[in-house]
Amino acid sequence: MRIAIIGGDGTGPEVAAEGLKVLQTVADEVGFRYETKEFNLSGNRYLQAGGDPKTPSIPVIHDSEIEELRTFDAIYLGAVGHPDIAPGILEKGLLLKLRFTLDQYINLRPVKLYPGVWTPLKDKGPDDIDFVVVRENTEGIYTGMGGVQYKDTPQEVSTQINCTTRFGAERAIRYAFEFCRRRNSRKRMVTLVHKTNVLTFAGDTWFRAFNEIGEKEYPDIKRDYNHVDACCMWFVKNPEYYDVLVTDNIFGDIITDLAAIIQGGLGVAAGGNLNPKGVSMYEPMGGSAPKYTGKKVINPIAAIAAMAMLLRETGSHRNDTQLVEAGNRVEAAIVAVTPMMKSQAAGQMGYSTTEVGDLVARAVRQR
Ligand code: IPM
Ligand code: MN
Repeated sequence: MRIAIIGGDGTGPEVAAEGLKVLQTVADEVGFRYETKEFNLSGNRYLQAGGDPKTPSIPVIHDSEIEELRTFDAIYLGAVGHPDIAPGILEKGLLLKLRFTLDQYINLRPVKLYPGVWTPLKDKGPDDIDFVVVRENTEGIYTGMGGVQYKDTPQEVSTQINCTTRFGAERAIRYAFEFCRRRNSRKRMVTLVHKTNVLTFAGDTWFRAFNEIGEKEYPDIKRDYNHVDACCMWFVKNPEYYDVLVTDNIFGDIITDLAAIIQGGLGVAAGGNLNPKGVSMYEPMGGSAPKYTGKKVINPIAAIAAMAMLLRETGSHRNDTQLVEAGNRVEAAIVAVTPMMKSQAAGQMGYSTTEVGDLVARAVRQR
């Protein structure tokens, strides 16, 4: 297995290093071989190459680099975001560019409260908070379609088009149903999340695709529907209700941040940008947290969980049981370590970044 490493900015490289430490350990234990290659794709590089911090002026990633990334089995990303660079430049120039060019059409966000982790939800524990959001990752309002007219005049007009295709909805929906079968929880239910009462065109494309595919191809799985606003209430009130959710790009972006906080925050939440037949990219959700850079106080659990996902998903996309086992073993090690930590918040873990990585690596060995 060949893994491309993009440490990125801020604390990204620090947390990625702990994920790689755990990878090394689990590879030794389970007995598989891998290679890594680091790619310097950061805000710092953009600035050093003469990039304008205020407006996109040069590519953040070159086409030749994307072509090279295509040859890897997976990409492991630390963090994107630089305090001196205007919002949007790195996000669009690197993260969204990779998602779109590599057609990573699924954003997979497991939402699991690990034992001993604090949640802001009263009376809810690990048995209650355990579901998965499947977010469409390449279209909707993220395509950049639309524009602005009469800018900086009182007549300024802007549009941002919610581009929904039957093809895009269908592949996300099929992925969610397949994932639900594979997960095989007691609930065996996929919840479609949209806003069909207002988005009567785009919502209806999703709704019909969901019900037609579900009825014909997945009669064994229960189908459920929530409006996105109501879904936010239920996440807080009854998270135990959910099994697998499927939703469009922007709704998925928003509900997965709500989900991240109920699972203990950005220190633990991990996600995958998946192209099941191509190259997928795995990342902690936390961002670059520039003020903590180099202080060794940031929580690497999310990055380690992203590594567990990388192993499990790469394994399941290509029927490699050894990699799936390795992923499960890393996840079990996380579950063994979170109760030992004082908190999942940066600087309050009771351990440094590297110590948490060491604890997880030790737990991987002890099993
Ligand atoms: C996420 C992030 C990105 C998104 C940003 C950084 C472009 O918020 O992965 O959820 O909106 O998709
Ligand atoms: Mn987001």
